[in-house]
Amino acid sequence: MGLKKNPNLMSKKVYIKTFGCQMNEYDSNRIYESVSKIGYKKTEICEEANCYILNTCHIRDKAKEKVYHEIGRVKKNFKLKEKPIVIVAGCVAQAENNEMVKREPYIDIVIGPQSYHKINELIFKYKKKKEKKEETDFDVISKFEYFDKIKNNNSKVSSFLTIQEGCDKFCKFCVVPYTRGPEYSRSFFKIIKEAKQLVQNGSKEITLLGQNVNAYQYEEKNKIFRLSDIIMKLEDITELKRIRYTTSHPLDMTEDLINCYKESKKLVSFVHLPIQSGSNKILKLMNRNHTVEYYFSVYEKLKKINPKIEFSSDFIIAYPGETEKDFEYTMQLIKKINFIHSYSFIFSPRPGTTASNLDLIDTNIAKERLKLIQNELFRNQSLKNKTKENKYVNVLVENRMSNQTKFFGRTEHMTPVIFKGPNEIEGKVVSVFITSSNKNNLFGEIKLNKNIRAA
Ligand code: SAM
Ligand code: SF4
Ligand code: F3S
Repeated sequence: MGLKKNPNLMSKKVYIKTFGCQMNEYDSNRIYESVSKIGYKKTEICEEANCYILNTCHIRDKAKEKVYHEIGRVKKNFKLKEKPIVIVAGCVAQAENNEMVKREPYIDIVIGPQSYHKINELIFKYKKKKEKKEETDFDVISKFEYFDKIKNNNSKVSSFLTIQEGCDKFCKFCVVPYTRGPEYSRSFFKIIKEAKQLVQNGSKEITLLGQNVNAYQYEEKNKIFRLSDIIMKLEDITELKRIRYTTSHPLDMTEDLINCYKESKKLVSFVHLPIQSGSNKILKLMNRNHTVEYYFSVYEKLKKINPKIEFSSDFIIAYPGETEKDFEYTMQLIKKINFIHSYSFIFSPRPGTTASNLDLIDTNIAKERLKLIQNELFRNQSLKNKTKENKYVNVLVENRMSNQTKFFGRTEHMTPVIFKGPNEIEGKVVSVFITSSNKNNLFGEIKLNKNIRAA
């Protein structure tokens, strides 16, 4: 008599496709860990999934349409197969909620970023009663309480760790306060515990994440902890080599944090500090609540405390009301600060935000301005990379590249380095001799007479 298969013990597979920021990557990793508790194993092959999760981003462009397009593709791929449970997570899920299931019945579950602790329960309910559900409450406390009980098994050399979520700043262009909810900081001790787990699993670099990561503040055991306290505590973890954080807001660049650039040996000398525009008029229209002069004062304080610090930033081009003069101010700022690399985007009206109804700048003008600004940013980037040629740079080796002969790593300034080297150097900080460069990368080799700095 043949054994009857128990459907609960049969291997189930989950595939997650992730769009958006590093926090979505962190979330996808935590979602994997949650669904693994109910028997789902991770697959990289979409077509073999029993559960398909799309973790979405709503920050720009046709975010919503991109999601429906993606679901359409999944539908086609599974035409001749059993339909997987289809879950839309992330910021589009939060913004669109039950509209999604109405418009695309192929979607079974819609779950916002602050409800991920309910994902297993929703899957169970769906499997039992085919009950379609939408969960978009801002229940961030329960979420972290739930995930604090699940070990973070991420074993990447460079890992993300969310310490803060949400935003109370309400820049007029930005959807984040609506999709991630109000600012919330996690328990200091739970963060340190999670960091230790990551390092035990092999992580050598941790990037602390938050929509306003430097607004982190948590009161525990009669003490107020800030981002600087987390950095200085992580400093004590011997096997951890590098500490980063992103994204910081100029207004929360406090003295204690600035001091970390003197006190900490592991905090990299790199700051991603978005400014958005070089014009005070536009900053005011955006509700950024800081001026260009204030941004400079932060820049100068940081440079004074550690002249090695390099800066990157985010720019929004053609924000409603941006004149040629305003744009010129942004160009001047870029020339003055010499950012090592930066992100620049044409303003994209987001539904529900204050700026969504403003008159747009002519598309051709916007595109032309973006081209000019990117030329300048990339020119800087190339020049900075060029200065590294024929020199040694320290690189944290993240992985062997898919062609198997070269390695991939990053400098402390986040510049990607592709190089030849001996075996078993992943996870180590090595000194790489740079032979050439382009706009995005440095290329080099490990000289055999140069010692590898043991990790
Ligand atoms: N919290 C960060 C800060 O205060 O700058 C930014 C977080 S946001 C996820 C990342 C970047 O997306 C922003 O810095 C901004 O440049 C860009 N962005 C946000 N909303 C945008 C919009 N409506 N159109 C174009 N770019 C946008
Ligand atoms: Fe968005 Fe950053 Fe402004 Fe918050 S501070 S509203 S996340 S751009
Ligand atoms: Fe996108 Fe949400 Fe991150 S809108 S950038 S996934 S916080």
